[in-house]
Amino acid sequence: SIVDPELRTGYHFHPPKNWINDPNAPMYYKGWYHFFYQYNPKGAVWGNIVWAHSVSRDLINWVALETAIEPSIPSDQYGCWSGSATILPDGTPVIMYTGIDRPNINYQVQNIAYPRNKSDPLLREWVKPAHNPIIVPEGGINATQFRDPTTAWRDDDDGRWRLLIGSVAAGGARGVAYVYRSRDFRRWARVRRPLHSAATGMWECPDFYPVERDGRRVGLETSVSGRRVKHVLKNSLDLRRYDYYTVGAYDRRAERYVPDDPAGDERRLRYDYGNFYASKTFYDPAKRRRILWGWANESDTAAADVAKGWAGIQAIPRTVWLDPSGKQLLQWPIEEVEALRGKSVTVKHRVIKPGQHVEVIGLQTAQADVEVSFEVSSLAGAEPLDPALAGDAQRLCGARGAAVEGGVGPFGLWVLASADMQERTAVFFRVFKAAGKDKPVVLMCTDPTKSSLNPNLYKPTFAGFVDTDISNGKISLRSLIDRSVVESFGAGGKTCILSRVYPSLSIGNNARLYVFNNGKADVRVSRLTAWQMKKPLMNGA
Ligand code: FRU
Repeated sequence: SIVDPELRTGYHFHPPKNWINDPNAPMYYKGWYHFFYQYNPKGAVWGNIVWAHSVSRDLINWVALETAIEPSIPSDQYGCWSGSATILPDGTPVIMYTGIDRPNINYQVQNIAYPRNKSDPLLREWVKPAHNPIIVPEGGINATQFRDPTTAWRDDDDGRWRLLIGSVAAGGARGVAYVYRSRDFRRWARVRRPLHSAATGMWECPDFYPVERDGRRVGLETSVSGRRVKHVLKNSLDLRRYDYYTVGAYDRRAERYVPDDPAGDERRLRYDYGNFYASKTFYDPAKRRRILWGWANESDTAAADVAKGWAGIQAIPRTVWLDPSGKQLLQWPIEEVEALRGKSVTVKHRVIKPGQHVEVIGLQTAQADVEVSFEVSSLAGAEPLDPALAGDAQRLCGARGAAVEGGVGPFGLWVLASADMQERTAVFFRVFKAAGKDKPVVLMCTDPTKSSLNPNLYKPTFAGFVDTDISNGKISLRSLIDRSVVESFGAGGKTCILSRVYPSLSIGNNARLYVFNNGKADVRVSRLTAWQMKKPLMNGA
């Protein structure tokens, strides 16, 4: 295998072996966080999909339980695909998931399962009632693209439940979120017009939930509606493999959702501008927050996955809430991850001159958490933004990567770097002057093109714009580094980028951390703290 076993992540969620993909039915029940996920019990490639199940007290230490849902009835005998949980008013959790009911063609129906024993806080056994499947594709729906039911929400006025199912219409052109309604969670009827649709191709794993309109960092139960909320609709775009969302208004009477920004669907805000897909949120009543789970696939070769025996991790769960501007979400790693912080090093008031880099020494950084605040001395030298690239962060970063000297930036971190710096993954900012705009444009990138000497790796640069006011020169960055993953949060969680990298030298104690400045303006590190991260209980792995 070209991938060193030491590159297995330490504190990111994973099973001991085999393939994993989407997060399913995350929920809090009787003091335990439950997490289910798409899992292949037979190998490190996608297939034979069942729902694996783990539980945790803190979303960080995980214990693996028995498989929760596996093919066992006619309507799921060829696969138990993604789905969600809903907590009924009497506290009973229900899971709805997509079943594949015939071989070879992926004909998709929706099934339901209940816990056998509600007094078991671990919810070890799930029962599929005889009336499954409960939703089948009818009325012109594309039966092979009809999946991933959301958590249901209930309107108090009419007492009916609603949920969404992802699909596609117009011959593959339009992504669609169909609404189904039910009084009893058993008989479901489709609302003729979808909640929303856009010219994007298939929508997998829709997610739909309320957020506090005023930007308070507090989560809302999925059924909450009214004047104090806005709604978020997220879809996973099969064609592009990114999770896009819009912020908008849910009209309960018309059963329609309208993004606030008329061009919202085209503008395409993403949870994460890197490797992060098929995500799903849930409301955590214990800490009154909404938590986002997302899957990060490998970016080595399938042959390397088979050789190493594992593929896929989950990103660190993130708290999500609305930015006070109302225009986008903010995301931050759940506070519990900080319990893993061990030995630390702090650097203060350190000026990094143009072309300079500074190593952060005194601790192991292959598995680390780094928080840094930067202050740029002057924005006067910001490079002009090429109008042809102004709308495309990813292409801009591809053209102006970490090694391309700029005006203000690139500055940031080199993580998982080797002593000679032959290997390094750059996480950085770059500031541009845009014609006709008074605010400087801030780009955030992860550039893994030098992350490994190994050939045959997929090493795309990832980038997003950061909608922040940098006029005072200040911007912050946090990176969760974990052997083969770097998960970064720019400007307090405005822009997030997860990247998978597979160093050949920067492994274990050989991984180093640097701050670099490849621009023409001085950059001050007002404060940087790096912590070594401990390994939690991880499903016995
Ligand atoms: C998304 C997805 C879902 C499907 C599941 C199958 O990654 O394709 O649409 O339910 O994975 O594993």
